[in-house]
Amino acid sequence: MLLRRDGYSLSDDPAHLDRALIHRWLRDDSYWAASIPEDVQQRAIEGSINFGVYEGEPGSRQVAYARVVTDRATFAWLCDVFVVQEHRGRGLGKWLMDSVMAHPELQGLRSFILATRDAHTLYERYGFERVEGSQRFMRIHPRPYRAAP
Ligand SMILES: CC(C)(COP(=O)(O)OP(=O)(O)OC[C@H]1O[C@@H](n2cnc3c(N)ncnc32)[C@H](O)[C@@H]1OP(=O)(O)O)[C@@H](O)C(=O)NCCC(=O)NCCS
Repeated sequence: MLLRRDGYSLSDDPAHLDRALIHRWLRDDSYWAASIPEDVQQRAIEGSINFGVYEGEPGSRQVAYARVVTDRATFAWLCDVFVVQEHRGRGLGKWLMDSVMAHPELQGLRSFILATRDAHTLYERYGFERVEGSQRFMRIHPRPYRAAP
């Protein structure tokens, strides 16, 4: 996947990722992975589909990121979504989400789950619904094979 828009590019090629930036941002600025050790973050990247947004071409300055943990058939977990402060409010978060939802290896899933503290309305645009009884968990649960008996 390689997309371009408004001087930015978006790629799912892990070779382009700025792993130091991703780790630093999640360790220092996220509320969900604060203090995460670097080796843990690197293993998480290795086991995931990764989405990077870059100023200019892939591999130049990275400004946004999202990660999906998945079996590429039935289940996915969306996490580690961020846009660096100076680039927020320009549609990059929605572009990341458009690209996650369109990714060829994330089609026909039985369950797509995420957790968020305060971005529910962002994810509702893409079909995620709040899980009953939970403040943070959201999911898409499409029953893709056939109706329940
Ligand atoms: C959430 C985040 C990724 C959005 O990125 P962005 O590029 O600024 O977002 P966009 O410009 O694409 O717009 C996002 C839309 O979602 C809405 N939204 C809903 N909840 C939001 C939230 N908590 N933060 C930001 N936008 C939110 C915005 O109002 C906007 O709607 P609009 O198009 O009607 O104005 C970014 O603010 C960020 O990195 N925040 C810190 C990390 C974080 O909270 N990540 C999500 C964890 S679940």
